[in-house]
Amino acid sequence: MTILVTGAAGFIGHNLCLSLLARGDQVVGVDNLNDYYDPMVKHARLERLAKFEKFRFAQVDLADDGALEKAVAPDAVTHIVNLAAQAGVRYSIENPRAYMRSNLTGYLNVLEFARAAKNLQHMAYASSSSVYGDRADGLFKESDSVTKPVSLYSATKISGEMISQSYAHLYGIPLTGLRFFTVYGAWGRPDMAYWIFTEKIFKGEPIDIFAAGEMSRDFTYIDDIITALVRIVDRPPQTPKKGDVPHEIYNLGNSTPTPLMDLVHAVEKACGQEAKKNFMDKQMGDVSKTFADISKAKAAFGYDPKTTIDQGIPVFVDWYKKFYNI
Ligand SMILES: NC(=O)c1ccc[n+]([C@@H]2O[C@H](COP(=O)([O-])OP(=O)(O)OC[C@H]3O[C@@H](n4cnc5c(N)ncnc54)[C@H](O)[C@@H]3O)[C@@H](O)[C@H]2O)c1
Repeated sequence: MTILVTGAAGFIGHNLCLSLLARGDQVVGVDNLNDYYDPMVKHARLERLAKFEKFRFAQVDLADDGALEKAVAPDAVTHIVNLAAQAGVRYSIENPRAYMRSNLTGYLNVLEFARAAKNLQHMAYASSSSVYGDRADGLFKESDSVTKPVSLYSATKISGEMISQSYAHLYGIPLTGLRFFTVYGAWGRPDMAYWIFTEKIFKGEPIDIFAAGEMSRDFTYIDDIITALVRIVDRPPQTPKKGDVPHEIYNLGNSTPTPLMDLVHAVEKACGQEAKKNFMDKQMGDVSKTFADISKAKAAFGYDPKTTIDQGIPVFVDWYKKFYNI
């Protein structure tokens, strides 16, 4: 079993590689190590992976046609987890082309690699809760219509799901799409609110709270996501009937929408300091609420996230203090 993980130097990718390596899998990681956020964090993650004999890394920009095949022999790979992407909702206003490059051209190149990989058993890929658009009503279910993106990021993730459906249909590639809901935790992402709040509190700077704090997110702890991902890798979509397309999509959230101000208070408590706060208007592309229905993932592979922000945020803040010697 050899698993190709794209975005291996990223937050979720490097945590997934660690768990796969710990259970003895051979892992090939690729990443272009771009500077969307401090590349030092990406290099520090790769240092942790380099300690494993069964890990190999190649610096590859997936949007360069043919680059992935040059770095990794398709036939050597049995599983793929595609986590590489230009992430972040707000940055898509500033740099739209980065999203087209990584999330569409880059993703197509990973699918073409999968098409050429003769021993491939399964490919999982990252989608996002942002595909649901801006909704205030009830639970977000996989069967809901997803045709109203409110950011380019979301539009590229919806497109990724559509392109996946066509590749599963045309070439029978077994594909599983994962709609992640605001994942957080140690070794996390410097562009996300929990990290920015922590950084600013320790620097004594005020934090910006958008939409006057009237937003809620289904915060999902990294360990709950990784437990699910490791199970999913071994579990291609079932196709009991002739003609079934091997493509499934699952929500991976916590199913607990949490007001933004609760996150602020959890970070303040973990940092032991109150933040100075600037209350701002809602930002373009932001949604009011996310709320995952996780019954499909629960039934399929026993997905059962347990971590609350009051448990997960102190773990992140402790890690942050150690990482930056605070
Ligand atoms: N973290 C979350 O809350 C969250 C929520 C929803 C969806 N997602 C999705 O999950 C996946 C992983 O997210 P993450 O939080 O680990 O983000 P991340 O930014 O930490 O990781 C993504 C990695 O992909 C790499 N990358 C980007 N473009 C590339 C390219 N063209 N070629 C090669 N490598 C490239 C980046 O350098 C980065 O290391 C992404 O697809 C993201 O859109 C994440």
